[in-house]
Amino acid sequence: PDITYITVDGTARVIDVPVGTSVMRGAVLNDVPGIVAQCGGNAQCATCHVYVDEATRDKPEPVRPDEDDMLGFTACPRTEGSRLSCRLKVTEALDGLVVRLPERQY
Ligand code: FES
Repeated sequence: PDITYITVDGTARVIDVPVGTSVMRGAVLNDVPGIVAQCGGNAQCATCHVYVDEATRDKPEPVRPDEDDMLGFTACPRTEGSRLSCRLKVTEALDGLVVRLPERQY
């Protein structure tokens, strides 16, 4: 599934991220700047924060409680589109997802 990452400088990169991984892994493995992912994908650091573009916000599964808790600790403000990218599991349903990277992660 194709995921579009838009970095703070406005650069968009489309990456075909394998099913079964996460939007966080797709960024880290492809050197997309702006994702730190300090805890390695365990919903314990909030440094993998992304903003899901409004037009594609119905694609991911809803926020679960562990993610919801950690979203209270993001460095940039939490908005309607805020997600932890390690919690965005890649499925075919995510094809076309657009995420924007925040200005900073800590
Ligand atoms: Fe730590 Fe996502 S990688 S919360």
